Order: sequence, then C-alpha cells, then structure tokens
Amino acid sequence: MADNLYDFGMVGIGVMGSNFLLNMADNGYKVIGFDLDAAKAKHLEEQASPGTIVKGVTTAEEMVSQLDKPRRIMMLVPAGKPVDNVIANLLPLLEPNDVVIDGGNSHYTDTLRRVKDLEQKGIHFMGMGVSGGEEGARKGPSIMPGGDISAWKRVKPMLEAVSAKVDGVPCVAYMGKDAAGHYVKMVHNGIEYAIMQLISEAYDLLKNGLGLDNDELSDVFKKWNEEELQSFLIEITSEIFLRKDDETDARIVDVISDKAGSKGTGKWTSQDAMELPVSIPTIDIAVAMRTLSGYKEERVAASALYHSKTKELKGKEHKDIKKIKDALYFSIIIAYAQGLAMLHKASSELNMEIPLADVVKIWRGGCIIRSSLLETFYKAFKKDKALSNILLNKNIGRLVKKTEKNARNVIALALKSKIPVTGLASAVGYFDAYCSATMPTNLIQAQRDFFGAHTYQRIDKEGIFHTEWIEDVVKEKKHHAETENPQPLQSEEKK
Ligand code: 6PG
Repeated sequence: MADNLYDFGMVGIGVMGSNFLLNMADNGYKVIGFDLDAAKAKHLEEQASPGTIVKGVTTAEEMVSQLDKPRRIMMLVPAGKPVDNVIANLLPLLEPNDVVIDGGNSHYTDTLRRVKDLEQKGIHFMGMGVSGGEEGARKGPSIMPGGDISAWKRVKPMLEAVSAKVDGVPCVAYMGKDAAGHYVKMVHNGIEYAIMQLISEAYDLLKNGLGLDNDELSDVFKKWNEEELQSFLIEITSEIFLRKDDETDARIVDVISDKAGSKGTGKWTSQDAMELPVSIPTIDIAVAMRTLSGYKEERVAASALYHSKTKELKGKEHKDIKKIKDALYFSIIIAYAQGLAMLHKASSELNMEIPLADVVKIWRGGCIIRSSLLETFYKAFKKDKALSNILLNKNIGRLVKKTEKNARNVIALALKSKIPVTGLASAVGYFDAYCSATMPTNLIQAQRDFFGAHTYQRIDKEGIFHTEWIEDVVKEKKHHAETENPQPLQSEEKK
C-alpha cells in the first residue's frame, strides 16, 4: 500500500460521520471524509487527535482517488433518497471489489434492493446499523453489519477496533445475510422505543402518582441504575432530571413539550412485525403513544371534558417505589422478549440467518439499549441458539416471576388513579396471553366461520371444518323450544 493512500473513506461528515471517522483515526487508521460543505471538511481536520491522519475533502473524486484499493467507503447520510443519490454519485468512480457501507438507519427493504443492484456491478454493499448516538460514534458504538460476507471480512478488524468493548470483547459481529444488519438495527430501535415509553410511564407514576420532585426522581433513577435495572437509558434519565434550563429557573425536563418526535424506525418495526407476523404489542404501543402525544390540542380539550385530577397513589415510601421499579423491570424484559422473538421469526421467514447470541452479545455495550439484562440474555442464547422467545428460558422466567406481582399491582393502582400505563399493561397482557395454553380465540374462529364461512380447525381431529351456522342455530332453537316448551317453534319465532 502506498503511504499517501487512505484506509477508509466516509461520505457525510456531520457529527455522527466525523465522530466515527475520528474514532477510526484514533485507532491508527488513515481516514478521509467527504462533504460538499467545506466548513465540515475543515472542521473534521481540526478535530483530529494529535498524531492521527485525518483529511476532509469536498468532492467525491478527491476522496475516491486517494483511497487504498479495493476501497472501503462508508456513508452516514439520512435514510431514503440521499443514500441512493450518494450511491449514484459514487458508482462511476468505483471499481469491482470496492466495499460500500451504509451506516445510517435505512429501511431494510431499500438495503436489500441495493445489495442486489450493487452485487451485479461487482461492488460489495453492506447495510450496517450503528448505535450509540454521537458520543458512541466517537468513543465506541455497537455496530450491526450484515449482507456481503466478503465485505464484512475486509472491514472486520477496523470495525472491531472502533466498536465498544465489553470485557475486551468487541460490540460488533456479522448479523446475517442481505439486509440483516439494518433489520437488527430496526428492531433494536423498536425495543428502544418500548423501553423509553415504559420509563416515561414509571416517571408519570413516580411524579404524578407518588408526588416525587425532580431531585427525588433523579435519586430514584440513580439508585435503580446501581441495581438490576442498570442500563444506559436509566442512567441518562437520572441525569436529565437534574439539568437546569438555560433560560428560566426551571428544570429543562419541565419546559420540554410533551409532543414526542420520531424518525420512523419504531413504526417500521411495528409494520414489519405485522407482516411476518409476530406479536410485539409493547413496541406497537410505544409507537402509538408517541403518535398520540402529537395530538396536543385534542388531548387538552379531552382532559377538560373527562379527566379529573390524578389521585395520588399512596406515599413516597420505599415499598411503593420498589413496586414501580419491579413493574418497570418486568415490562422491560417483556419488551426485549418481543423484539428478540421478532428477530427469531425474521431470521427464518426472511432467510437472513440472524445469529441471536451475537445480537445480544453486541448489544451489551455501546448501544442505546445496553443494559445488564443483556448478559443474562446472552447466557440464554449461548445455551440455546434457537431460543424462539427468551421467556422460555428458566433463568429469565425466574426474573419475570419475581417481579410479576408488583407489575400487576402497579397497573391496577394506575388504572384507578387515571395514570395511563398502556406500555406496562401491554407487557402484562402479552405475558398472560403468551402463557395461556388456551386463548379465547376459538370464539373468534367461530365468529369468522359464522359470518364468512372462513372455516376452523378442531381440537379433537385433523382437518379444516365449516359449520352451517344459520341453519344449525335455527335447529338448535327448535330443539330447545321443543324440549323446554311443548309449544310449536313457529309461535316462538312469532314472539
Ligand atoms: C441509536 C439510536 C439512533 C437514533 C434513532 C432514534 O441506536 O443510536 O437509535 O439511531 O436515536 O434514530 O430515532 P427517533 O428519532 O425515531 O426516536
């Protein structure tokens, strides 16, 4: 390799892209970033650590011509059209065997299309999830690459170097065929939505139910982060309550509008779960609650019409807070269970061969949903690589059973107090349905067959059956009338 050639190129050097590149440079790689914005290209070079080799350029040609061949180029640009545009601009400059990586949050069907298109042109394309936000990109993200296996082999050492580490183990692994990398990242975000919704409900219970102020809330979350609930999202929540607003005397959390935004990955998770199909109600609810949060004016009007003031639950006693902690712990496990069950189903249904043990292994560090629970899940998948639902693992079952009662109690109290706990309730509801050897859905089958002749299966023999419901209902009535009452049926019907 000539000395003046760069090891790795990046298209899109906004905060995420430049942080990822600077991280790579800190690990000894020579990196070059391209952005049309000259200020960003300059800023990239200014941020480089002393002794590292970092260059910023403003044309794709400058970047591509200075990369070691076969080239390794990553893009971190907004999902959708921008990704296609970057690929179209790069293509005339590339040569067979070059590797192109999309590190953004692209929809997996777009990635699938791009993998196939570029394969025909001899370019190795990988869809790769990157989690950890801006700080993660700089200091060590969790990285979820998938697709072209030869491309993975060519970038593996670099990605291992920049990724987060847990006990020295890199938080990056091959996530499976085709668009598996982006699929795993999509479900990661679905779980992220669910956990954030569940935490927000715990916040509501602690604040409006028990009456905790921001300092007390921070202390509670800080303590929880030192116990079983230890996780990135609980940790940052504890810090959020302490942050003062720059413009007023208030805490910033109290001046932030309750309209929640989203970029779509949670919605995609729900949509795709319905396609597979697989049941992920807590993730669905999380998406739905962000949507409902946007209906501010209607909520204000409805609250004036219907909602009396929230009653306080009980007191700020340790046991009340512990109940909420257990409810949160229980429902977070259920949220992971739903997301991982979705990956299990997608792995076979979409032929992606997703290694679930590796998924939970690389989620232990660097990513937004990292938590001490992931270690337990990793052990479960190491024992049974084909585990279809983590609730079927005995150790995880023990954690669920320990907290189940308090989860139910908290939901019951919340319902009485008019505190919405749709996420928590969905988790318990999912758990109860999943643990039901028989569900009441036999009645749904009967109804479908009644009005639409949709047929049903029987519990006592194989086959597909249909009942002539109307005729049989009439006969039944007639029989009933004849045995109960000697009067003829016609007179019954006349009544
Ligand atoms: C991550 C995050 C990151 C981002 C999402 C959230 O893993 O680092 O998931 O990808 O925060 O885009 O998106 P919403 O705007 O939809 O909440």
